[in-house]
Amino acid sequence: MNEQDKKKALILKLQRVVCICKGIPLGKVLPAVRRSRTVEEVNRRAGTGQGGCAGRRCGPRIRTLLDKSQRLSKK
Ligand code: FES
Repeated sequence: MNEQDKKKALILKLQRVVCICKGIPLGKVLPAVRRSRTVEEVNRRAGTGQGGCAGRRCGPRIRTLLDKSQRLSKK
């Protein structure tokens, strides 16, 4: 994969929707994840978890992102 393809793949990944109810993409959630310790903090910063499902769909995804982020920061 060349640099151009890598950039396109990253952009597509960041545009992937994490919170379906509010249409909030990964690119908006990741900065909040880096600054947060709980799903509730991410929800306050990124606006996730406030849609019709009240976070039942995006909450587990955000929890997974937080776990990965916290594991990486320990290394
Ligand atoms: S998917 Fe995020 S509030 Fe429903």
